[in-house]
Amino acid sequence: MAAPDIHVRLAGTRDRRALPEIDPNVSRDLDRRHAIDSAIAARHCWIADYAGQPAGYGLASRNFFSRDFIDLVYVAEFARRSGVGDAILAAIEHACGAASIFTSTNESNQPMRALLKSRDYHPSGRIENLDPGDPELVYVKFLPENEKESDARGRGI
Ligand SMILES: CC(C)(COP(=O)(O)OP(=O)(O)OC[C@H]1O[C@@H](n2cnc3c(N)ncnc32)[C@H](O)[C@@H]1OP(=O)(O)O)[C@@H](O)C(=O)NCCC(=O)NCCS
Repeated sequence: MAAPDIHVRLAGTRDRRALPEIDPNVSRDLDRRHAIDSAIAARHCWIADYAGQPAGYGLASRNFFSRDFIDLVYVAEFARRSGVGDAILAAIEHACGAASIFTSTNESNQPMRALLKSRDYHPSGRIENLDPGDPELVYVKFLPENEKESDARGRGI
């Protein structure tokens, strides 16, 4: 369970202003801004407040072989190692109606790999040649509590 001073919710358009403060890439990367805007419109962008301040966000989609996929989790530097990333993943998993959820990260990203391991994600393949010399590692988490529901309705994020 998230610490009491961490609160994760679906982001709305009014949250767009806070995102560059969490993630400096948002100001310089047009693709990231577009990804965030699309995720907000699709109700696939979650934002975490930590001690009353916007401190992290997560984006999900069904763009990975039509499977639920966590595209990005980003926690502001001031809030790292406080449980914010963990709380964002928990919220996305909770919203996921499918029996599994996928994500990926660079092999060099030790913090993300450690976070995924701590939340019981399992290796599910690797993709070479995206970033030179730094393969993309794919992970899956099985969500057995969703198995019946997703069989019956094929529901995803
Ligand atoms: C990866 C990232 C999201 C982790 O977020 P976070 O809020 O700092 O992680 P949490 O505090 O929830 O960590 C939960 C657990 O994950 C593991 N973990 C997280 N960061 C770690 C680190 N730097 N070193 C070792 N273990 C780490 C630990 O097991 C940790 O539990 P503990 O603190 O009780 O030991 C954050 O470092 C970040 O935003 N990085 C930049 C963006 C990025 O690389 N995103 C991933 C690509 S999509």
